[in-house]
Amino acid sequence: MAVKHFLQFRDLARDELEYVFQRTRIIKDRFKRYEPYHPLADRTLAMIFEKSSTRTRLSFEAGMHQLGGSAIYLNTRDTQLGRGEPVEDAAQVISRMVDIVMIRTFEQDIIERFAANSRVPVINGLTNEYHPCQILADIYTYIEHRGDIRGKTVTWIGDSNNMCNTWLQAAEIFGFNVHVSTPPGYEVEPERAGLYGTDHYEEFADPMDACLGADLVTTDVWTSMGFEAENEERMKDFADWQVDVDMMKLARPEAVFMHCLPAHRGEEVSAEVIDGPQSVVWDEAENRLHAQKALMEYLLLGRIES
Ligand code: CP
Ligand code: NVA
Repeated sequence: MAVKHFLQFRDLARDELEYVFQRTRIIKDRFKRYEPYHPLADRTLAMIFEKSSTRTRLSFEAGMHQLGGSAIYLNTRDTQLGRGEPVEDAAQVISRMVDIVMIRTFEQDIIERFAANSRVPVINGLTNEYHPCQILADIYTYIEHRGDIRGKTVTWIGDSNNMCNTWLQAAEIFGFNVHVSTPPGYEVEPERAGLYGTDHYEEFADPMDACLGADLVTTDVWTSMGFEAENEERMKDFADWQVDVDMMKLARPEAVFMHCLPAHRGEEVSAEVIDGPQSVVWDEAENRLHAQKALMEYLLLGRIES
């Protein structure tokens, strides 16, 4: 059987994603009841980080331990990858020694090349283009709080970055709509986002218009990792794209607010919104753990009975 990777959101079909959500619920319930569950005993996860992380590292490392396996943290700064070893060679070697690999890196091309040379499943823990594990947790969180996401409206305010691209891919798979509002010059690039078409999203020049009727409002940092040199310019360009109470008032009364974190209060979101009653950011962060445990279980064991 071909090795299954999760390099971008659309690598899994809707029925596979729905299965992963079912398993997420079961795995989360067991965890909350303190029931040991070790389906990945003796399995090893290698986690390769080229960028900083709190949630991704913690959720993968803790998740693998909780499933009975172990996790090894590799930082490119102190591996041979950081000294120019070809990614193809590293993939050959690493994938002979572990059962599954998670990578956080820069260009999507790097993770694609790694996966093409890997004997084991590779998971995207964030690239410049995509952040599929985060959207897995985000959609699971929406379902937990509000039910089916099909036909709903997700509003994306800010940069058309890795998070935005992945929301757009997810919209095509699950059949929801995304209202996108970015400052001029930061618009969605459909090809970079890996979209099949443009039917599932609409662009709004005014962020207030984008929020009208939203079921979920979400945003992210104005400057993603790897783009720090643009920070000063972005602070000016994004100044009107802060999610605040006035924007949330235009969304549906039951709308939730999400942010993948880390957040900058007073920049992309006001403190009132992220710390307010519509915010589900802590559940969203916690669900990284449960969703990724279900993802690793699926990539390694396929569909299981129970
Ligand atoms: N949301 C997210 O991926 O957080 P980290 O950068 O802390 O991993
Ligand atoms: N878009 C952000 C997400 C961080 C989790 C970044 O890439 O830095």
